[in-house]
Amino acid sequence: MDFKQHIRVIEDFPQPGISFKDITTLLKNGEAYREAILAMKELIKEKEIDLIAGPEARGFVVGAPLAYALGVGFIPIRKSGKLPGETLEVGYDLEYGTDKLAMHTDAIQPGQKVLIADDLLATGGTISTSVNLVRQLGGEVVGAAFLIELVDLQGRNKLDKVDVFTLLQY
Ligand code: PRP
Repeated sequence: MDFKQHIRVIEDFPQPGISFKDITTLLKNGEAYREAILAMKELIKEKEIDLIAGPEARGFVVGAPLAYALGVGFIPIRKSGKLPGETLEVGYDLEYGTDKLAMHTDAIQPGQKVLIADDLLATGGTISTSVNLVRQLGGEVVGAAFLIELVDLQGRNKLDKVDVFTLLQY
């Protein structure tokens, strides 16, 4: 399937100069959404995975169905102040702005194999922070899988010893 035809590109959102890849047009098409998740599952088929972790919010709409398809658990990586239990928080820079990401400190058992999933790899700030969180909690990061990679931003260079899987490149 030509997934790119289901992704709407909106120029100058949320700031001038940003070419926003809008996945809502893919998500609302049941067949395209399902096929995209199954194609991501195929990309990572060689990996042994205990858990999928996905960063809020768009990482949930990719990570949760991928976890369901694999039959493994899903753990949310959330923005600061959202998780009710004891959390570990790490600050990070975004393509536009700054934020903090948090995970429950008991989300991962030491040594569990975690794949991180998100919709987009841009500057790599979100994923490298997510990798730090998972590693600090004792998880083994077996890879990071994305629907879309913005290649020119070289986000994958921010990642140390992480296998990166991307379905679509722009
Ligand atoms: C977007 C996107 C990724 C991240 C990619 O999330 O969903 O998580 O930015 O950018 P990076 O590689 O430069 O870090 P955003 O923080 O906008 O939050 P949202 O999913 O809640 O919209």
